[in-house]
Amino acid sequence: MFAKYPDYEIVNLDLLTYAGNLENLKDVESNKNYKFIKGDIADKELVNDLVKDVDAIVNFAAESHVDRSILDSSDFIRTNVVGTHNLLEAAKNNGLKRFHHISTDEVFGHLDPNDPAFNESTPYAPRSPYSASKAASDHLVRAYFHTFGLPITISNCSNNFGPFQFPEKLHGLFITNLIEDKKVPVYGDGLQVRDWLYVEDHCEAIDLILRKGKIGETYCVGGNSEKTNMEIVKKILELLGKGEEMIEYVKDRPGHDRRYAIDFSKIKSELGWESRTSFDEGMKKTVEWHKANVDWWREIKSGAYLEYYNKQYGE
Ligand code: TYD
Repeated sequence: MFAKYPDYEIVNLDLLTYAGNLENLKDVESNKNYKFIKGDIADKELVNDLVKDVDAIVNFAAESHVDRSILDSSDFIRTNVVGTHNLLEAAKNNGLKRFHHISTDEVFGHLDPNDPAFNESTPYAPRSPYSASKAASDHLVRAYFHTFGLPITISNCSNNFGPFQFPEKLHGLFITNLIEDKKVPVYGDGLQVRDWLYVEDHCEAIDLILRKGKIGETYCVGGNSEKTNMEIVKKILELLGKGEEMIEYVKDRPGHDRRYAIDFSKIKSELGWESRTSFDEGMKKTVEWHKANVDWWREIKSGAYLEYYNKQYGE
């Protein structure tokens, strides 16, 4: 955003829970238009004070890892539902000009192989505590539009991948494990399908919705890149020159969603957006980034992350 709009002033409110990391924003730390505040979106007073000075809120704050929501979903309800409600209240009370809510395709449930892709009118049918908490927050955001006229937009995106993703998600976990010569845990048969969206393409979509999106509307954002988990694993193995003996099939995730797919024709026709990064290019960039930033992920993997990983998979 600073590269594109040097005059924007951005306040980053982040609680720095396990996946938050100040290292990720070292590049902008000293920018005079940037302010970091360590704090909680569920803290009413803090949020209300901050909102007084801003034009727009983009709500990225969420607990987002399905496996963690299966172990304990309390933080998901607190941050995703209570936190969003708190932001909405502050936005309403201070006459905010814009509230953009980042959401997920997982609120729509899951698809069989031949089902049509999700779009903006697909009924909500979340199946994990994570996606249920995001669905609840989406409903609240829409309610604030209909009831109070709050100028909102929502985007429901497919699975992101790329630099700085916390290495508990598929790409980061598998790439870093393989660089360390460790096996990669494929859940079940590995034939689950996700529509992979390179993170910078997603950021462009959000920027566009913020500037040109229609108030009260939802936009589905997809990568036009449906792949099975096995296709992802095989690509990573190929890019790192490793063999399939590094794959370890482990027990499936409970309630594992089989397939997600996004029909992004609305954002394409109304706002002219479509993802620019091809699957091969995105995979290559992501693997190269992890190879060039070993210190970043080693530190993470030796700390909080490991505690969780061991709890789930044993030492
Ligand atoms: P994930 O990155 O957790 O995203 P989501 O579940 O929100 O789509 O997982 C992507 C897919 O990869 C999902 O089908 C689960 C699978 N997966 C594994 O097979 N092994 C793993 O260790 C992880 C983290 C995910």
